[in-house]
Amino acid sequence: MEHFPIVLALLRASVRDKSAAVIQHAERLREALHKVGAEDEALAIAQVLSSAKQSNSGTLVPSRVVKSRAISSGEVITANTQPPVDKETSTPLAEIFLGNRLSELAPPILSDRLERAVHHLMGQWIGADELQAAGLKLPRTALFFGAPGTGKTRLALWAAEKLGIPVVLARLDGLTSSYLGTTARNIRALFDFANRYKCLLLLDEFDGIAKLRDDPQELGEVKRVVNAVLQAIDARAPLGLTIAITNHEGLLDPAVWRRFDARIEVGMPDAAARLKIVERYTEGFPVKPGAIKVLAWLSEGYSGSEIETMCDFIKRHMTLFAEEKPSVIEAVQLFIDLSATSHSSPARESLAREDFHWISQVLSYQDIKIVQADIAEAIDATQSKVSRLLKSTERV
Ligand SMILES: Nc1ncnc2c1ncn2[C@@H]1O[C@H](COP(=O)(O)OP(=O)(O)O)[C@@H](O)[C@H]1O
Ligand SMILES: [Mg+2]
Repeated sequence: MEHFPIVLALLRASVRDKSAAVIQHAERLREALHKVGAEDEALAIAQVLSSAKQSNSGTLVPSRVVKSRAISSGEVITANTQPPVDKETSTPLAEIFLGNRLSELAPPILSDRLERAVHHLMGQWIGADELQAAGLKLPRTALFFGAPGTGKTRLALWAAEKLGIPVVLARLDGLTSSYLGTTARNIRALFDFANRYKCLLLLDEFDGIAKLRDDPQELGEVKRVVNAVLQAIDARAPLGLTIAITNHEGLLDPAVWRRFDARIEVGMPDAAARLKIVERYTEGFPVKPGAIKVLAWLSEGYSGSEIETMCDFIKRHMTLFAEEKPSVIEAVQLFIDLSATSHSSPARESLAREDFHWISQVLSYQDIKIVQADIAEAIDATQSKVSRLLKSTERV
């Protein structure tokens, strides 16, 4: 069908409001396409509709928004509230995210263990009033650490939205100055601001201001900056919530490390999480369940952000070459060739080769059960073709 990608894009944009009329007309279109045998298009529409029904709100915690007094007190930030600035350069020291900028964010998809830990922490924050009434201490400072692109920043922004508080995101470029005295002063100004308002203070790329104190390169003055951070975190403790994030936990001063009530390692997604991430980022496109499994196998060692990049590539390829109906595997083979800088893996290396040896590797993958029918969906072929290809690779 000509211009189908545009129809699909229109549909994806309009089902967000979940209007009954839009959904009804989309169902009509799906049936009509099914009747004329346009199965791929019908499937694509069914997928858009089913994802609209599930809605991407995520499963980490119930969807109620809490506005707890115990979790953060102070004045309310409005659209007119100006962030603090560096006295000399007027560079903002922070960026403010109000609820409306946060509400679009779906939570990152995490492995089960990690999700349990996050769920528990959120439970304590949501129940903050109760805990405080019972005279119990709240965990008010959390450190998220782990490889880049694993969803740490997303997780913090999403948590603030669920708690119903705006985010004050520290800006490293504004805070740090080649004059270390200025850096310490800016840190105090940032915390003064955060303590005045009801908010979540988010210290992203935290290692930038809390490096090891005995770094031989920059002794002396650096200690003053780290001490300013430590004092500021301690003084903030009874007032509000603070989340610090780092990709380089090894760079953190041990004294800083101990300051945090909760420390959560956000690791690379496991196979089950990768399946869900691929599902989310191929949503609304004719990518069949078997192909999703093969993509989850292939993306071992990728972060959530890298999986998103891979899926975006596949979607662009499928849109641009819609006429030729490229298979998912064809698209992803191109992606591997075009993203040679990203770390390799045996799976990706075997797929990049011209032969079909990767098929036997997929079939013996332990973490996800993948069968010949799944591979058939990934390469857009019949199952008997897959079985023939497999035999031919066994012969050589
Ligand atoms: N676990 C995940 N689940 C879903 N999407 C993810 C995940 N991790 C990363 N992403 C995607 O990558 C983007 C960048 O992730 P980000 O939160 O900035 O990672 P980090 O802060 O760990 O470097 C996110 O906005 C999201 O679109
Ligand atoms: Mg980040």
